[in-house]
Amino acid sequence: MASSLFFFFFLLTSHSLHFLPLSVLSATVVEDLANLTPPPDFSNTITANCLRDPLLRYCNNTSSSPMDIIEIFRSTIVASHLCNESKNPNCVESFPVIRIHSRPKTAALYLSFDFFWKYCPLTVVEIEIVNNSLNTGFPMNVLSCAQVRTLDLSFNQFSGFVPVQNLSGLPNLTRLNLSYNRFSEEHISDSDFFKRFNASSFIQSGVLPNAKRYKMKVLVLLILFPIMVILLCFCLGWLCLKRPDYLPRTCRRSHKFTSAILEAATDEFSDQKLVSKSNGVDIFRGTLKDGTEAKIEVYTEKVSKEKRTAFAEECEAVFKLRHKNLVRVLGWCNSRNMRALVTEWTNGENVENWLNSSSASSWRRRLRVVMGVVEGIFYLSEEWPEITFDLSTSSVLLSDGDQEPLISQFRIGDGNNSSTNIFNFGMFLLEMITNLRHDEEQEDSERRYLEYIRVHYPDNLGRVIDEKMKIEDRTVEKVKQAITLGLTCTDKPPLKQPSLTQIYDMVTSLYESSSRHH
Ligand SMILES: *[C@@H]1O[C@H](CO)[C@@H](O)[C@H](O)[C@H]1NC(C)=O
Ligand SMILES: *[C@@H]1O[C@H](CO)[C@@H](O)[C@H](O)[C@H]1NC(C)=O
Ligand SMILES: *[C@@H]1O[C@H](CO)[C@@H](O)[C@H](O)[C@H]1NC(C)=O
Ligand SMILES: *[C@@H]1O[C@H](CO)[C@@H](O)[C@H](O)[C@H]1NC(C)=O
Ligand SMILES: *[C@@H]1O[C@H](CO)[C@@H](O)[C@H](O)[C@H]1NC(C)=O
Ligand SMILES: *[C@@H]1O[C@H](CO)[C@@H](O)[C@H](O)[C@H]1NC(C)=O
Ligand SMILES: *[C@@H]1O[C@H](CO)[C@@H](O)[C@H](O)[C@H]1NC(C)=O
Ligand SMILES: *[C@@H]1O[C@H](CO)[C@@H](O)[C@H](O)[C@H]1NC(C)=O
Repeated sequence: MASSLFFFFFLLTSHSLHFLPLSVLSATVVEDLANLTPPPDFSNTITANCLRDPLLRYCNNTSSSPMDIIEIFRSTIVASHLCNESKNPNCVESFPVIRIHSRPKTAALYLSFDFFWKYCPLTVVEIEIVNNSLNTGFPMNVLSCAQVRTLDLSFNQFSGFVPVQNLSGLPNLTRLNLSYNRFSEEHISDSDFFKRFNASSFIQSGVLPNAKRYKMKVLVLLILFPIMVILLCFCLGWLCLKRPDYLPRTCRRSHKFTSAILEAATDEFSDQKLVSKSNGVDIFRGTLKDGTEAKIEVYTEKVSKEKRTAFAEECEAVFKLRHKNLVRVLGWCNSRNMRALVTEWTNGENVENWLNSSSASSWRRRLRVVMGVVEGIFYLSEEWPEITFDLSTSSVLLSDGDQEPLISQFRIGDGNNSSTNIFNFGMFLLEMITNLRHDEEQEDSERRYLEYIRVHYPDNLGRVIDEKMKIEDRTVEKVKQAITLGLTCTDKPPLKQPSLTQIYDMVTSLYESSSRHH
C-alpha cells in the first residue's frame, strides 16, 4: 500500500498523474480504503491542488471537518481506479469518461461510493453503466454529475420511476439511454423531456407505454371484442334455436322442444330408447336435461306446412289439458324435420297386462277402469272435441299408486273424428270384457274381431266374457248391457252409435250399480 500512497501523493501534488497499480476493485480494496488514512500533510496538498484547479469540487470544503479530509483522500483513490477501469487515455485525475460495461460486481461497488459521486469530478461528461444487471431503483448518485452530456444506463434491471425532473435539470445532457430496463411507466406530463429524447432512448425501458402492448389492446378492442360479441350472439342464437333447455328458465318456453333437445334426451333416438313403433308413430323413452323422464312420440310421416300449423295448435291445446285420467303433456316439437309430442313418463302397468292379474278378476274393478277412461274422454271432448286419442288396453296405463287409468296416447294431427273416438272406446270396452284383442298387424282384423263377438253373443256368453272374470249371476245382466254398449259403439257405418253423453250416463249407472251390489 505504501507505493499506492506514494502514487497518490504524487498524483495530487503534480498534475502529470500516474496510475494506481490496482486495476481490479475488490472487497479487499473497499476494506483497504476503510483502513487507509491520509498522509500527514494531505490537507496541505489538497489546498495546494485546489488553488491550482478549481474544478475539484471538494476543494470548497477543505476548511470544514477532518472527516472530509479522509473522505477526500479515499475519493481520490476511487477516482483513480475508476479512471483506469474506464480506460481513459492518460488516466489523469481530470478524466472525462466513466464507462463500466458488463461488469456487474464492479459497477455496483463504484456506485456505492457516495462521497465520490457527491463531488463528482467536473471533468466527467460521459457516464455509461451498461449491461450490469443492476436491479436497484434509478441510480440517483450519477445525477450529481450535473455536467454530463451522455448518460447510458441501458441493459440493466433498474426499476421504479425515472426522476424525470432531475434529468430535465441536466442542461448539457444530449444523449440519454435508458433502454432495456424495468422502469415503471411514466405519465408523460413532462413532455419537454420526452421531446429532448426520442423513443430510441427508451427502448423496452418500461418508461414509455409499450407500443406493441398498446397495439394489442387496440387490436383486442377493435377486432377481438366484436368477434367475441358476434360469437356470443351466435352461441345464444344457437342455444335458442337448438338447445333452449340450456337457457335460464325465465327466458325460454319450457314446452317448446327442439329436435336437438329430443335427440339429446334419447341418445339420438337410439334403439335402446325406442319403446314401440307403429303406423306413423315411434315412441321413445327419454330423459330431459332436468332429469324428468318423458315419453316422446315422434310422428314420422312427412306433412305439409298447413298440417304442421294444425299440429302445433293441437299440441298447444293438449298441453293445456289437466285431468286425472289424461297423461300430462310436457310439450312438443314442431320443426321442419320433426314433429313430436312429449308427455310425462308414467310408471305403471298397461291394462292389457293388468287384465291377466288377479286384481282384474272383479267386474267392479274392470268397470272402474272403464269409468276413468270415460271421464278422461268426456273431459277431452269438452275441452278439445277435434282431438283423437289412441285407446287400447295396451296404451291405457294404470298409475302405480291408486291404479287410476291414464289415457297416455293422443293422435295429434289425425283430424276431427268423434265417430272414430266412440268406435275406439267401444273396442276398448269390449277388450275389457273379453280380454281378447285384434291383431293390429293383420288386415281387417277389427272387423273380424267384432264379427267373432257378434256370432257368439248373446247365445254363447262363455266365449265372449273373459273366464278369468268371476261374475255373479246378478251381474251377468250388467255385463251384457256393457257388451251391447260396446257393440253399438263399434257399429259400422255408425248409424246406431250413441253420443258421448249417453255413453257417459250408461257407464256411470253400470258402475254405480256394481258398487251398490258390492
Ligand atoms: C490500467 O488499466 C489497464 C488496462 O486498461 C491496465 O493494463 C493497467 O495495469 C492499469 N493500471 C493501473 C495502474 O492500474
Ligand atoms: C468554490 O467556491 C468558489 C467561491 O467560494 C466558487 O467560485 C467555485 O466555483 C467553487 N468551486 C466549485 C468546484 O464548486
Ligand atoms: C461543504 O460541506 C458542507 C457540510 O459538509 C455541505 O453542506 C456543503 O454543501 C459542502 N459544499 C460543497 C461546495 O460541496
Ligand atoms: C452482457 O453481459 C453478458 C455477460 O455478463 C454478455 O454475455 C452479453 O453479451 C452482454 N450483453 C451486451 C448487450 O453487452
Ligand atoms: C454545460 O456546457 C457548457 C459549455 O460547455 C458549460 O459552460 C456549462 O457550465 C455546462 N453546464 C453544466 C451544468 O456543467
Ligand atoms: C431530484 O429532484 C427533486 C425535486 O424534483 C429533488 O428534491 C431531489 O433532491 C433531486 N435529486 C437529486 C439527486 O438531484
Ligand atoms: C433519436 O435521436 C438520436 C440522437 O439522440 C438520433 O440519432 C436518432 O436518429 C433519433 N431517432 C429517431 C427515430 O428520431
Ligand atoms: C440505446 O441503446 C440501445 C441498445 O444498445 C440502442 O439500440 C439505442 O439506439 C440506444 N439509443 C440511444 C439514444 O443511444
